[in-house]
Amino acid sequence: MRRPLIAGNWKMHLTRQEAVVLAQQIAQRSGDTTTADLAICPPSVYLDAVGAVIRGTDVGLGAQNMYFEPNGAFTGEISGSMLVDLQCRYVILGHSERRHILGETDEDVNRKTAVALELGLVPIVCVGETLAEREAGKTAAVVSGQCAGSLAGLSAEQMQQVVIAYEPVWAIGTGKVATPEQAEAVHADLRRLLETRYNAAVAETVRILYGGSVKPDNAAALLSQKNIDGALVGGAALKADSFFGIVAGVGDA
Ligand code: PGA
Repeated sequence: MRRPLIAGNWKMHLTRQEAVVLAQQIAQRSGDTTTADLAICPPSVYLDAVGAVIRGTDVGLGAQNMYFEPNGAFTGEISGSMLVDLQCRYVILGHSERRHILGETDEDVNRKTAVALELGLVPIVCVGETLAEREAGKTAAVVSGQCAGSLAGLSAEQMQQVVIAYEPVWAIGTGKVATPEQAEAVHADLRRLLETRYNAAVAETVRILYGGSVKPDNAAALLSQKNIDGALVGGAALKADSFFGIVAGVGDA
């Protein structure tokens, strides 16, 4: 059985004080959650402060990005070992905003994923098509191409540690959520791909999250789909009430 994961991606939002307060609220309420793993991914400059708040709770700390080099003259970058030092458990890699706004390629994501795994971090590797790609009937090709590139060269053991997040670009921050059937179709494709590339055990183990305008009122319908194992949540993760409204959707599943 795959244990659902609900991960909040705070993106480039909140002040330090707001981040600490939100983390406190989430930490306080996390004890009531038995149905899912929880993670919060604050901006990297707040990782230390947020990490101190949630230490000792079941809420996992995640970063939103990392660089693939271990250290050196890479101004502005943050290495995976620095994230380990801050006791991160997860790192989001290849988010569509990084791919589309900051020019990150599948090759970059692949190098980062391999390093994250070596360091014992759980990479949350994001894939997803644009609206133009969906309308051109290319969703399956785009998503499987991103998976092939971003996850190239991983052993079956490594692949089992990876979390995939399917996030259609047209649904992120737009309020336009994929229907449960649209999302499930892609998730089922991804799981078949894992079975073809690896084996049935890997396909059964890997958690595939949905992301893109997940809210308390649509969470249960999405999370009850057979191949949807949780959610990567942006806007609705910025308030404890809506974050836990989504977590409650797992219970309904
Ligand atoms: P959203 O963002 O929930 O605000 O659409 C999701 C994401 O980008 O991970």
